[in-house]
This record gives sequence, C-alpha cells and structure tokens, in this order.
Amino acid sequence: MTGRVRASRSLPDGPGGVLSHSQRFGGSLSIAVITGSAGLVGSEAARYFGEKGMHIVGIDNDMRKYFFGPEASTEWMQKQLITSIPQYEHHSVDVRDEQTVFALFRKFGRGISLVIHAAAQPSHDWAANEPLTDFAVNATGTLNLLEATRQFSPEAVFIFTSTNKVYGDVPNSLPLVEQERRWELDKSHKFADKGITEEMSVDQSMHSLFGASKVAADVMTQEYGRYFGLKTVCFRAGCLSGPNHSGAQLHGFLAYLMKCNVTGTDYKVFGYKGKQVRDNLHSSDLIQAFDMFFNNPRSGEVYNMGGSRFSCCSMLEAIGLCEDISGRKLKWEYVSSNRVGDHIWWISDISRFQSHFPGYKVKYDVKALLREIHDKNYERWVAPSRSTYA
Ligand SMILES: NC(=O)c1ccc[n+]([C@@H]2O[C@H](COP(=O)([O-])OP(=O)(O)OC[C@H]3O[C@@H](n4cnc5c(N)ncnc54)[C@H](O)[C@@H]3O)[C@@H](O)[C@H]2O)c1
Repeated sequence: MTGRVRASRSLPDGPGGVLSHSQRFGGSLSIAVITGSAGLVGSEAARYFGEKGMHIVGIDNDMRKYFFGPEASTEWMQKQLITSIPQYEHHSVDVRDEQTVFALFRKFGRGISLVIHAAAQPSHDWAANEPLTDFAVNATGTLNLLEATRQFSPEAVFIFTSTNKVYGDVPNSLPLVEQERRWELDKSHKFADKGITEEMSVDQSMHSLFGASKVAADVMTQEYGRYFGLKTVCFRAGCLSGPNHSGAQLHGFLAYLMKCNVTGTDYKVFGYKGKQVRDNLHSSDLIQAFDMFFNNPRSGEVYNMGGSRFSCCSMLEAIGLCEDISGRKLKWEYVSSNRVGDHIWWISDISRFQSHFPGYKVKYDVKALLREIHDKNYERWVAPSRSTYA
C-alpha cells in the first residue's frame, strides 16, 4: 500500500537529507505535510494552503476505498489535486508505515512548517470489523506522524483532526426534551445555549472502538505538546461536510444523504426517531480555524469544533432540506436500533477556540452546505460517465 505515485512537482533533497527551502525558494515557500490529502479535510487543506503558496506534500493511500468500497474511493480527488495544484506532490504512503513516513520527514526536515494529520479510519461502525486495523491506522498512525515531527520538524505546527466521539456516549446522559422534529437539550442546562464544551468527560463511557482509537491519538497529540513542547492541537470535530466528501453509508452524513436523494438510492435512518441532532461544519470553515492556529500556535491545545448552534439540524430536518434543494423525495426507511455509541444530541460549543482566536466565525449553515454539496456534485452523481473524475 505504499509507494510514490505521480507527483506534479517534487522538491529535491537538501544537504544532509534536510531541505533548505529558504535557499531554494527565496525564503517564501514553506512545506505543509497533509495526511489524508484526498479526503474531505485533507483536500480542502491542500487546496487552501497550496493557494497560499506553500509546497504541499500529500499523503493518502486511498484506504477509504478499502474501508467503504469503491463508491467511497478518494482517487478522483487525488487526480484533481495533482492536476490543479502546481505545488502539490502526492505520496501513496500508508501512515502505518513508520519507515516510509520517517523517510519523508527526514527528506523535508525543518522545511516543514505545518503538519495536518487528517488520515484516518473515520467510522465508528466500521471499526468493530477490524479493531486491529482501526487502532493501527488511527492511534499508531498518529504516533508515527507525531514522532516523525518531533525528530525531523520540531518547529512545525501539528494539527490533529480529532472527533467528538472521544466523549463516547456521555452526551446521551444530558437531559433531552423531545420536540416535533428534533431532540433538544433542556433549556435550563448550561450547555443549552451554546453547546457542549471541552469540560465533558472522555472517561467511563461507550466510545465504539473508533472512539477509543481516536482518544488514544488525541491524548498522544496532547502529550507531544505538553511533554515535548511541540505545537500540537486537537480539533474535536462534530460532523464535517462539504462537496469534497466521498460520502458512503458508514461515513459522510450530509454528502451521502444528498447523494442518495439525487440518485434515488434508499437511505436508512438508525434510531432515535430520526430526531438526533448534529452540528455540521463545512470543511472550509474548519480550514479557516486551522489557518488561525497555524499563524498563532499554542502547545497541547484541545478545541471542540463544529457548526455550533449556527449550523445544526436533526436527521428529519436534514431530509427536509435535501428534498427542498433537490426538488425530489428521498426514499428512506427507519431502522429502530440506533448505532452503537451514537449521539442523540451533539452541538459543539466553540467558545474556547473563539476566545483564543477572536473573529473566528462559522460561515456556512446547513442549508448553504447542502446547497453546495448538491450543486458541485450533481453532474458527477447523475452522469458519472460524463464526469472527468468518476
Ligand atoms: N467527516 C466527519 O464528519 C468527521 C468528524 C469528526 C472528525 N473527523 C476526523 O477528521 C479526519 C478527516 O476526516 P475526513 O472526513 O476528511 O475523512 P476522509 O475519509 O474523507 O479522508 C481521510 C483520508 O485518509 C486516507 N487514509 C485512510 N487511512 C489511511 C492510511 N492508513 N494511510 C494513508 N491515508 C489513509 C483515506 O484514503 C482518505 O482519503 C479524520 O481523522 C476523522 O476522524 C471527521
């Protein structure tokens, strides 16, 4: 699963294996290593930081295809990145492959100013199929990236895309009130106004194996900040979304919902009467937060990050919005058993991040997000044979 694939432009080795990018690029170009670069978050980051003039070293072995099948493959995005971003180079490397990851970091060394680690097995349902694979990709893969950063690029800012699943099902013990189309938090609760803060416990709850492997990675990322002084941060995200998501039944909620709606595919709603609530953050809103942190980093930080109250919906509300946008009815069925460890109500309180980075605002609400997912994917979904990257 390793090996270099076509690279649009590759940087040469520097003396002693360390790239002296300031000599070669007039001091203007620094390097971002982005894992999971063909995925939702990674591709948005590659485009954004590439447009800012950084050289992008993308790492992605299309393992999403292995997890969720051919429809979830991110190869189409990999091709798009290679052809559309001049300073993007792609490495089909497995983050579990310590030696190859280390060799890449050794090559670029202190030229690397930013590491965005977004490669993952991202589904809590899938993790139970292969616990060893899940843990190796999510936990050991993260440790490989952290240790490579510590050894070869210790000045780099290290951004880890963690998840609200680190809190397990603790959020399900909040006092919830049933409304016509959604569950809501009792108005008297301290989280009702803005959502759930980082003070929620990560302990003593059902996480799913995915949640447990992400906790391991999250705590290790914090530790490399606290113990070694690296500039690390964990963004504990709610639902992330956007037109770049290769949505599949087990991962990519809004993208998959809209895809089913547009293509007439049956959709299954699991449990909680379809009233479960999620906040949804456009990947570009997440990258804005990454950029702010990159420009003013701290060590061992943790932030809840999501659409917040501004961009949240229940499953039933999301279905209604999809139907309004697409102009057609979704074919869906209700399955009474919920997914193990699934949240009934999650809205991220992003105040901690906003207090460190005043001015940060979520721009996309759920409707704008769904509209963009629809408009940018319609052609690819309904006429794959006519599309450039089917
Ligand atoms: N999408 C969400 O709703 C969401 C929510 C919370 C947290 N997150 C986290 O954000 C991160 C990015 O999520 P995403 O939605 O972009 O996922 P994604 O599946 O779209 O992208 C991940 C990419 O990583 C690649 N990958 C997987 N295993 C790999 C391996 N062993 N080596 C190299 N590449 C590998 C995949 O091929 C894929 O292209 C993940 O850590 C995920 O847990 C996502």
